[in-house]
Amino acid sequence: MDKTAKIIIDNKTYEFPIVVGAENEKAIDISKLRDETGHITLDAGLANTGTCTSAITYVDGEKGILRYRGYPVEQIAENTTFVEVAYLLIYGELPTRAQLDKFSNSFTEQAMIHEDMKNFFDGYPSTGHPMGILSAMVCSLSAYYPEMQNPEPSKEEIDKIAVELLSKVRTISAFSYKKSIGQPFVYPRPDLKYVPNFLNMLFSSPAREYKIDEDIVSALRTLLILHADHEQNCSTSTVRLVGSSRANLFASISAGICALWGPLHGGANQAVIEMLKEIQRDGGNVKKYVDMAKDKSNAFRLMGFGHRIYKNFDPRAKIIKKQADKILNKLGIHDPLLDIAVKLEEIALKDSYFIERKLYPNVDFYSGIIYKAIGIPVEMFTVMFAIGRMPGWIAHWKEMIETPSLKIGRPRQVYTGQHQRNFIPIEQRR
Ligand code: ACO
Repeated sequence: MDKTAKIIIDNKTYEFPIVVGAENEKAIDISKLRDETGHITLDAGLANTGTCTSAITYVDGEKGILRYRGYPVEQIAENTTFVEVAYLLIYGELPTRAQLDKFSNSFTEQAMIHEDMKNFFDGYPSTGHPMGILSAMVCSLSAYYPEMQNPEPSKEEIDKIAVELLSKVRTISAFSYKKSIGQPFVYPRPDLKYVPNFLNMLFSSPAREYKIDEDIVSALRTLLILHADHEQNCSTSTVRLVGSSRANLFASISAGICALWGPLHGGANQAVIEMLKEIQRDGGNVKKYVDMAKDKSNAFRLMGFGHRIYKNFDPRAKIIKKQADKILNKLGIHDPLLDIAVKLEEIALKDSYFIERKLYPNVDFYSGIIYKAIGIPVEMFTVMFAIGRMPGWIAHWKEMIETPSLKIGRPRQVYTGQHQRNFIPIEQRR
């Protein structure tokens, strides 16, 4: 044991090992705390709890650093494709040309979903939120691919299931959008790459062939890459927790999609646009909304602001803001919502409330502006995030189930309810 931490309880000293990560991150290993002391730790929101060690993504929230498998996200966003990033996250290294071609080709082979699954879409109302449909459909894949339900899959099985999911999620998402607007499904095309194929499935119709624009492809690719992983966030931790029971990948990721849906997590991208529209409808008085966000008697928060980890800036938000400017210029769009967003950012960043709490625009603040410019409807924004996060979820699930000493996730609690009391028959209750 190198360094240890000492905990003194009732004058008795207990020692626990200190674990040091690759970037000098330090953790006290308290896995024996309860056995040795009879105590557990209490950490609402798991803000100080490491639930695993992981070699996938490194984040330094103070310095605004994000690295995938050691590579700075800025370099990755500039130089790679989404499929390449998926390979990097899942397998740990950038692929060679041959590896990438093989990986990419298998996406094309696996892009179709079982024809019977198309009927599921008819069961949903056209107003059904695509995140609910996506989660249900991803879980349903396990019914169609039962061979993928092996609780201890082989390496080959993991490779196959990873590609299946990455490829099919795009088809399912596009189909759910088509269902919501009452248009026929557009099937994946073998001649198109990942992002243009998806755009084509979304926007082509029997009446209009979608013209692929390289700048739009590039903007969407960047967004997907920037969302690809973010270590132990709410949805990834959900995937790991569900997967720790050895639930199959489809079931685990379906749960992760639900966790992402919430407005405090991935659902914030939809919530940002709704907030900007509300400010616009209300006459564009940005200061009023900043004041509302500061008012503790009001539950309103500035959507797209703040982050559990980033306390300086979100490196993804910087890249996305640049992309938003570029794509709006290119498309010749003047979006008044962007003007409101810029004003909001300006006012909030000068305000002591936001400065003291280190609240900055996060990845979701500007992503919606780009989705909107591309023509993606607001309800689909969080689905876009889910497609982007898929490689990260898969990489974490894989890393976890390949851990030899995998333990089921099972946190503790401090009980604050009634002591034991005797049952009261209904006639005697008041
Ligand atoms: N607007 C106003 N005040 C805020 C905001 C906000 N967006 N975010 C945090 N605060 C305040 C809190 O009220 C709290 O103030 P207090 O100390 O006076 O009580 C303080 O800042 C700390 O906030 P917490 O909620 O404790 O921070 P936490 O780390 O738990 O939450 C979160 C992080 C959920 C992202 C939060 O900042 C938030 O709700 N943001 C808005 C939703 C959002 O944009 N989510 C997307 C995050 S990125 C992602 O998931 C991909």
